[in-house]
Amino acid sequence: MKITYLGHSAFLIEDLNIKALIDPFIDGNPVSRIKSSDLTGITHIFITHGHGDHMGDVESIAGRNKSVVVCNYEIAGYLSTKNLNTHAMHVGGKVKMNFGTVRMTNAIHGSGIETENGFICGGTAGGFVIEVGGKKVYHAGDTGLTLDMKLLESENIDVALLPIGGNFTMDVEDAVKAVEFIRPKIVIPMHYNTFKPIETDVNGFRCADKYSEVKVLNIMDSIEI
Ligand code: NI
Ligand code: MN
Repeated sequence: MKITYLGHSAFLIEDLNIKALIDPFIDGNPVSRIKSSDLTGITHIFITHGHGDHMGDVESIAGRNKSVVVCNYEIAGYLSTKNLNTHAMHVGGKVKMNFGTVRMTNAIHGSGIETENGFICGGTAGGFVIEVGGKKVYHAGDTGLTLDMKLLESENIDVALLPIGGNFTMDVEDAVKAVEFIRPKIVIPMHYNTFKPIETDVNGFRCADKYSEVKVLNIMDSIEI
């Protein structure tokens, strides 16, 4: 499996039967290195919650690629009105898909969908444990530190993608605690330095190497697991 960091909380996951995006905030990201139109052959798009910096370019990418959008029931209802293919699920649910399994996890955060007419209900925020070819990736979405993360230790997560930017989510200190709870083989920080309120020194996160291998990715860096 190849995992590529696209910036903010956006990742590309590639394996034999899947070319998936998680939280594809590309064109609106001031530090993005690609355009959403560069992304082709996308089979699935995972959306953790309704905020604009996570829904991002889902409508254009999913429309163009005929991708299946995996997200909570409320966001799926919203995206269905835009004629997109969706798979609705919800926090705590687990499902088999053609590439492996997906579990939706709890996240402590909002999920309102920002539209021209203000916010509409986007259900509750979540994260995903995505299993492909026997490897498990946990994308936490936006979340505060929660004891629920301790439940993920028994999942034997290979790669955890955790927000560290503070203000809207865990900061560096809380994210280190999350790594202690989850004990993934590898941890990759996300959701920092995109905007002023989430500026942080990523080096403060490196002490999580007590619990996991910390890999700080630059935008467009990839790892193979
Ligand atoms: Ni958010
Ligand atoms: Mn966010």
